[in-house]
Amino acid sequence: MLSIGFDGVEIHGAHGFLIDQFMKDQVNDRTDHYGGSLENRCRISLEIVEAIVNEIGSDKVGIRLSPYVNYMESGDSDPDTVGLYMVKSLNKYSIAYCHMVEPRMKIGEENTKFSESLQPMRKAFNNTFMVAGGYDREDGNKAIEENRGDFVAYGRLFLANPDLPTRFELGAPLNEYNRETFYTHDPVVGYTDYPFLEDTA
Ligand SMILES: Cc1cc2nc3c(=O)[nH]c(=O)nc-3n(C[C@H](O)[C@H](O)[C@H](O)COP(=O)(O)O)c2cc1C
Repeated sequence: MLSIGFDGVEIHGAHGFLIDQFMKDQVNDRTDHYGGSLENRCRISLEIVEAIVNEIGSDKVGIRLSPYVNYMESGDSDPDTVGLYMVKSLNKYSIAYCHMVEPRMKIGEENTKFSESLQPMRKAFNNTFMVAGGYDREDGNKAIEENRGDFVAYGRLFLANPDLPTRFELGAPLNEYNRETFYTHDPVVGYTDYPFLEDTA
């Protein structure tokens, strides 16, 4: 096997992309054994996990899931149950981590406060649990203190602050992200042109 030095693979089972579309009952209209019941809708995700675990080892595999998020019309009528079923099923494979996106990332709810919804999944999952979605420094520290997750992932703040860990450590001010350059196709503008702390000093 070709080795390119990565530590592992995060399976993207979130945000309305293909794997997520199988899981969600508002978009999966299949009538074969990949559609219909919860077990059927989650089958492909677990088959993918199993295949990758068999190829590279469970300690190198993580998965990102967003049961509550309804991007690209991929919503579910019972996200608590989907999330819980997935984490319990994932326990069988002893993967390195499960990365869950907060319910507040649902379209139109981005700025709401943290909710308790992920807690049953956090408790049911046997390995490392990562949370993401709408966190800042304070909120992230609080999540770790309260044992709501083992890790917090940051998206927009990291994009706008290439030295985010240093800024968090120092309690330094953050660059504000510019929404207008999100999802654009210039390789630099909005992606690699935000200043480091020492450039702004
Ligand atoms: C420019 C940009 C591109 C993104 N691309 C993806 C993507 O391709 N797939 C994905 O699942 N999430 C993507 N996200 C979402 C982030 O991974 C993250 O879940 C989201 O920003 C919420 O976390 P935050 O509140 O810390 O930003 C993107 C976000 C931004 C700002």
